[in-house]
Amino acid sequence: MRVVTVANLKGGVGKTTLAVHLAVRAGQSQPVVLIDLDPQGSTLEWIRQRGQELPTVVPMGVHQVENRLMQFRKARLPLVIIDTPAALVEVVETAIRVADLVLVPVRPTPTDLAALPRTLAMARAAGKPVALTLSQAITNSRLTHRAVETIDPAGPLLPAVIHHRTALASAMATGATAAETDPRGKAAAEVEELWQALVRRLAQLPADIPQPAAR
Ligand SMILES: Nc1ncnc2c1ncn2[C@@H]1O[C@H](COP(=O)(O)OP(=O)(O)OP(=O)(O)O)[C@@H](O)[C@H]1O
Ligand SMILES: [Mg+2]
Repeated sequence: MRVVTVANLKGGVGKTTLAVHLAVRAGQSQPVVLIDLDPQGSTLEWIRQRGQELPTVVPMGVHQVENRLMQFRKARLPLVIIDTPAALVEVVETAIRVADLVLVPVRPTPTDLAALPRTLAMARAAGKPVALTLSQAITNSRLTHRAVETIDPAGPLLPAVIHHRTALASAMATGATAAETDPRGKAAAEVEELWQALVRRLAQLPADIPQPAAR
C-alpha cells in the first residue's frame, strides 16, 4: 500500500482540488481511499455534491489515522490519498508521518515559494520523500518559469504543471472532476499528466507490496 499525503501549510493552494482529482483518476485503475483530515470538510462537501459512492471518502480525526491505515493495509488496499488542512500543524505532522510520499502543491508566487520551506522542513524532519507540483499556475507567466528554476527541476518537482483552470474550480463546486465535465480539456490533460508523474515517482520508492497501477 502507498500513502500519499497532500500537504502544504499554506492555505488555498489546491490541496483538496488535487486530492479529489487524483483519487478519482486513481480509482479508474485500482481501489483507493481518500482520507479527509481537514475539519473544514471540503472533500466531504465535494462527495456530498457528487451523490456517488466513488471515490470512497473517509473523514476522520487525526488520532484514528494510524489504526485505519493498518486496517487498509491488512485489506491490501493499493493506495490511500490524504487531504490535510493548512493551518493545523499537528494534523499535518501526523499525516506526513504516516505517508510514503508527501505531495506538495505550490503556487508559483513569491509569497508561496517563501512559505514553502516550512512544509518541506516538516517532511524532511519526518524523513519523508516529497514531490512538488506547481498549482494554479498562469500559462506562460514569468513567475511560473522562475518558480520552475527556483525549485530544482531535477529534484522533487514533478514534470506536471497544474495551471489555473476554470474547469477545475467549477468541477469542485459541483462534485465532479474536470475530466468528467470536460474530458478533452486542458485541465483533464494536466491532471492525467500529474497522475502519471505521481505513479512514476511512487514506483521509484523502495518496493514493498504492489504499486498503484497507472492504467
Ligand atoms: N488549478 C486551479 N485552477 C483554478 N482554480 C483552482 C485551482 N486549484 C484550486 N482552485 C480553486 O482555489 C480554491 C482553493 O483550492 P483548494 O480548496 O483545493 O485549496 P486547499 O489547499 O485545499 O485549501 P485549504 O488550505 O483551505 O484546504 C478553490 O476555490 C478551488 O476551486
Ligand atoms: Mg483543502
